[in-house]
Amino acid sequence: VTDTAKYVTDNRERYETELAEFLRIPSVSTDGGHADDVKAAAEWLAEKIREAGLEDAEVVATDGHPIVVASHITDPSAPTVLVYGHYDVQPEDPVELWTSPPFEPDIRDGRMYARGSIDDKGQVYMHVKALEARLKNGVGLPVNVKLVFEGEEEVGSKNLEAFLKSNTDRLAADAVLISDTGMFSRDIPSVTLGLRGLAYVEVICRGPKGDLHSGSYGGAVVNPANALCKIVAGLKDDQGRVTIPGFYDKVQDVSAIEKEGLAKLPFDEPGFIAETGVTELDGEVGFSTLERLWYRPTLDVNGLLSGFTGEGAKTVLPSHAMAKVSMRLVPNQDSSEIAELARAHIERLAPAGVTVEVNEQHGGTPWVGDPSSPIFEAGAAALEKSFGNKPVFIREGGSIPIVPMFESLFGPVLLLGFGLPGSNLHAPDEWIDLDMYNTGIMTLVDLYDEIASRGV
Ligand code: BES
Ligand code: MN
Ligand code: MN
Repeated sequence: VTDTAKYVTDNRERYETELAEFLRIPSVSTDGGHADDVKAAAEWLAEKIREAGLEDAEVVATDGHPIVVASHITDPSAPTVLVYGHYDVQPEDPVELWTSPPFEPDIRDGRMYARGSIDDKGQVYMHVKALEARLKNGVGLPVNVKLVFEGEEEVGSKNLEAFLKSNTDRLAADAVLISDTGMFSRDIPSVTLGLRGLAYVEVICRGPKGDLHSGSYGGAVVNPANALCKIVAGLKDDQGRVTIPGFYDKVQDVSAIEKEGLAKLPFDEPGFIAETGVTELDGEVGFSTLERLWYRPTLDVNGLLSGFTGEGAKTVLPSHAMAKVSMRLVPNQDSSEIAELARAHIERLAPAGVTVEVNEQHGGTPWVGDPSSPIFEAGAAALEKSFGNKPVFIREGGSIPIVPMFESLFGPVLLLGFGLPGSNLHAPDEWIDLDMYNTGIMTLVDLYDEIASRGV
């Protein structure tokens, strides 16, 4: 591993240049206009995987965006690690808020700024470079490795689901490794043991058949924008609790052991406030910030649209209003069941004089890992060696909907993420810290030895 570490250090600059090349391909999966770019990113990635020494890398077409698959079989009787990640990215908008263009990677203060830099192209590429370092300097791999990188994570992994189910032999593994999460802080590496799930609905409120003069009609015709605001306001009470009947029925209490664990984490609340730029925090009464983020479900408006939003004042009573509402879920809430409960409640909240349409979007199942698997020890050991600090076990408020399926089809899932707080994922000026990129690669190089020595 010492030689491999030297290889990683010697090639640091090239590893960064190649990542920049990857980030220049605008593989935005939500936008059909970018389908060719998503495909180009898949082809580019497959070629780099081949160059790294996994010669069978293949781009598999699906009904949507392609999946990149590769393998390196050292010894059929050795354990097999399946690495998953996604090379698709979120849209860049609002593009005017970026300091440098989203698809022209720019290095400032040790960070590389670009869409997808941390979520998840940078972390996918760390795996490819760690494998290259081992395979190209003669150390080889003590376990078998299989790779599956998809182009539809940001749109719900629909085609990956079918692919995994119909390729369980080809992808057969003893454990799954994913880097698509973050670290607790710069000095504290982390193993993620839980992810929230997601239910997401679009709410459309319709009133008059067309826009109306707000003087001639206002006061007598129900305004869909006002009605939508009323509905949204009714979805949470003044204790910060979601009002949807049944919403909390399956939610588990935070256990005493979990509370103890949370209390030990050096959570920097002022730092968290500073990172967000808000004046103070608020949420469900009776819970700490980390409990609110990791252990409690919640509901948020993600987008609102109605009426006149241009400069100045235009007096108009809009014909319709729309809101996108996400609900982050925790074990054992079910995405479709929660979306159904939300629909029923939204319909009840809608005032007379408007109609309301609730459209469920793709969701995701919450997940908690079983820390008794030796894979977690291997992950913790590799992190401690490369960062020089003991890692902590955390949860994330975000979602990776495909994780429970990986676990049920293949084996325990180790989430080893290298994003730093404030990396602006899904937002303007997304960045990856280049020291973390390097240290992450070192961690992944070592991880294979830690897994081999402990078994899975
Ligand atoms: N990598 C993120 C998930 C994530 C976010 C993990 C923050 C840890 C911290 C993933 O790419 C993502 O954005 N997931 C979506 C869900 C999906 C259905 C669009 C999310 O969480 O919103
Ligand atoms: Mn991601
Ligand atoms: Mn994402």
